[in-house]
Amino acid sequence: MSLSKPDRSRPPSPTAPPSPAVSRPAAPPPYPDGWFAIATSAELRPGRVLTRRLMGEDVVVYRTRSGRLRAVRPFCPHLGAHLGHGGRVRGEELVCPFHHFAFGPEGECVRTGYGAPPPRARLGAVVSREISGLVFVWWHARGEPPSWEVDLPSADGFGPVHHLVRTLVAHPQDFMENVIDTGHFTPIHRLSVQMVEEPRFDGPRMASVYRLARVGGKKNVLCASAPATHAMVQGLGLFTTETTIPAVGMDMRAWFFVVPLDPVRIDLRLAVSVRFPGVRHRGTARALAALAAGPLAWFSTFETDRDRPIWAHNTYLEHPRLAQGDGPITKYRRWARQFYSDWPSGRLPARRPG
Ligand code: FES
Ligand SMILES: [Fe+2]
Repeated sequence: MSLSKPDRSRPPSPTAPPSPAVSRPAAPPPYPDGWFAIATSAELRPGRVLTRRLMGEDVVVYRTRSGRLRAVRPFCPHLGAHLGHGGRVRGEELVCPFHHFAFGPEGECVRTGYGAPPPRARLGAVVSREISGLVFVWWHARGEPPSWEVDLPSADGFGPVHHLVRTLVAHPQDFMENVIDTGHFTPIHRLSVQMVEEPRFDGPRMASVYRLARVGGKKNVLCASAPATHAMVQGLGLFTTETTIPAVGMDMRAWFFVVPLDPVRIDLRLAVSVRFPGVRHRGTARALAALAAGPLAWFSTFETDRDRPIWAHNTYLEHPRLAQGDGPITKYRRWARQFYSDWPSGRLPARRPG
């Protein structure tokens, strides 16, 4: 997918521009390459046409009557009407709202609205995948095809997924950095963190295992018996966690999807589902899972809300003055560099001695 070139500079804070001392050219561009979950499968019943914002432009997603999903660039190649505003699915075709030209499943123009032979024209394709009930699209600053694929486990006994969407002022890299920024867990989230497995960086993925426990009163009570969370980051658009909570016999999945909307804002999409493997009666297990997912999703957004004012006003420091206990910030930033094919300087953020 090749959308318009983004502004290369890091987005300014909405209320307080960064100090001139900040080295702006070293900051990552606003849009990383990768997969971004712009919708759920359930939002796209056969015949439905949806418009979603991604990297400063619209993407139109639709499902044909036979169930095939397609994502396309928004403008009709005839005279530029927006297909997401009045475009309709007819059978396997998408019909433009303006002169009713119809486009086949491969995007080719198959018919005009007034009987004339169709011109040689096709819709601009956007690479998409439907995985585990989510619609992902691929975005690359240079229009290159996917170099990796999203890996998600199947539903496998998990109950219905509860989805929530929040629009935040933040850079997509901020959200994923939060995952390994162990120093912020206590001051922002009142949580103690214990790393069971330090973050492993492997191609487009970063995996870790940790335990989180609520900080009690003034004492830092780290519960060694707190459940372990298996976390996986894939690109800068997807963070998944799996936690088994033996006390209630529950497995919980919380999946966070970051979708850059424009140089300043992201949509944070959250999907939570649970299962109760110890509950024999399938109907009861499913009902319990359906009941639990909603409150757990809301709880997860409360935690994100605590980071929100920080992300809305922070800036990117090329040489952060790190301290012990910060987590592998420098390693993470070097890893994240691979997702910016249009990073202008090519310089890697590194820690400066002293
Ligand atoms: S602009 Fe789409 S058919 Fe004319
Ligand atoms: Fe956080």
